[in-house]
Parts: sequence; C-alpha cells; structure tokens
Amino acid sequence: MSDVQLRLENVSAGYGRTTVLRDVDLEVHTGSVVALLGSNGAGKTTLLRVASGLLRPDAGRVLVGEAEVTRVAPNARARAGVCLIPEGRGVFRGMSVRENLLLQIPPWEKDKSFDLALETFPALKDRLGELAGRLSGGQQQMLALSRAFLAKPSLVMLDEVSMGLAPVVVDQIFESLHTLASSGTALLVVEQYVERALQMSDHVYLLNHGQVAFSGRPSELDEDEVIRGYLGHELNTPDVSSAS
Ligand SMILES: Nc1ncnc2c1ncn2[C@@H]1O[C@H](COP(=O)(O)OP(=O)(O)OP(=O)(O)O)[C@@H](O)[C@H]1O
Ligand SMILES: [Mg+2]
Repeated sequence: MSDVQLRLENVSAGYGRTTVLRDVDLEVHTGSVVALLGSNGAGKTTLLRVASGLLRPDAGRVLVGEAEVTRVAPNARARAGVCLIPEGRGVFRGMSVRENLLLQIPPWEKDKSFDLALETFPALKDRLGELAGRLSGGQQQMLALSRAFLAKPSLVMLDEVSMGLAPVVVDQIFESLHTLASSGTALLVVEQYVERALQMSDHVYLLNHGQVAFSGRPSELDEDEVIRGYLGHELNTPDVSSAS
C-alpha cells in the first residue's frame, strides 16, 4: 500500500471562469496530520471540495492511495476511505440524533454500532431521541464530527470545525481530533486556531491566492511573520465576531 493517503498533482480548479486553485501539489501521508492554512478566500474549502470529489478540477490529478480518483464521485471516494466534515454544521436538524448517527454509518459498515462515537462525544448519549436541531451549536458540531468515527475512514478532512464555538467546546473538539489522529486516521485540517492546528500537525501547507506559498514542517514556518502576513490575524486569536 502506498504511504500517501491523498495526493493532489498540479491541480487547478475554480468556479465557472474564476480560477481559484492554481497548480496545487499536496500530499497527506498515511496516518499523518496536515494543516492547511490560508487567509479568507485563499482556496482552502475549494481544495477540500476537490479532494472529496464535490468539485472537479480543471487540470491536474487527485489520487487516493495509488488510485486516481480525479473523476470519481464523492460517494465512491467516501467508500475509498475519504471523509469530509464540511463547513457549517452538517446535520439534519429535523431528524433525531439517533437517526443522524445511523445515517452517517455507511452501508458497508452497517453492522457496526455507534458506541465509539458516543464514547468520544458522551454529550450525545443522553440526547439520542432528541431532534438534532434542538442541540446546542457545539453538540451539533459533535454530531457532525461523529461521522469521522462511524465511517472508519482512513482520511478525514475538516473544514473549520471549531468555528463559532465556545472555548470549552473547542477543547473537546480538538481532543476528539487527537483521538482520531492517534487511532491512525490521517487528517487534513483547516482551522482558524492556527497554533493548535500546528501543534498537532506533521506538515503544513500555506495557501496564498490559490497557490501553495509554503510546504514544510510546522517548525520550519516562521510563525509570526509568515502567518501574520498571510493570514491577516494574530496567532490563536480567530475572528470571534461570528461566534454564536
Ligand atoms: N460556489 C462558488 N462560486 C463562485 N466562487 C466561489 C464559490 N465558492 C468559493 N468561491 C470563491 O473562491 C475563492 C476561494 O474560496 P474558498 O471558500 O475556497 O476560500 P477559503 O480559503 O475556504 O476561505 P475562508 O477562510 O473564508 O473559508 C473565493 O474568492 C470565493 O469567493
Ligand atoms: Mg473555507
């Protein structure tokens, strides 16, 4: 088996005539944690959409393991072990917590229980019968994240999953990411908590206007200058004006 879980080769992608990603090369090695940084609009979400199959690149290739999946649909990529936890809270508010969890167990894991997810997010345990829309924002995010545990993916891509949550909930979310990573799941993490993301990462990519401006170990990143310059905000102080 290949040591590389996900590979983007010379990927260019965008929307209509707007090119967002230009000639992007990115690798996530098996079992590793990779941080993807960049200012608002740099193309982070677009990159995750290309990697998960939601957006087809205009040029370049996407590989999962050794298989090229550039033209493979999202559900088939999920089957190959790729899981995206998208921006916003990907839960069905009108369905119960239990129903949401059951939905997230893919058909090929149907006989598996959801004990592991409930172990990681005990707050959900007592609310199984409740409508997901009645959970707090943090609990809804945990419900969304539980997919990463239920589907047993080999790669989880997370798009700002701590966005707008109270600090204590952010702590719980990061704890769950550590649990995932230590179980050998590869992570591609987009996070506004830059310092925390870097702390858990083996590798970091910095996107600037859709191009890779830096690729290397977190320790090689000149945090102060580079991050402030590219990200436009101080370390570890995400914009909390949008917090709910
Ligand atoms: N569906 C879309 N249609 C057209 N343009 C889009 C669409 N989604 C994103 N864009 C544009 O693509 C560029 C990159 O957006 P993207 O969402 O990938 O950035 P990002 O790095 O995730 O930013 P943020 O930190 O704000 O989430 C932006 O200029 C944005 O306006
Ligand atoms: Mg984004």
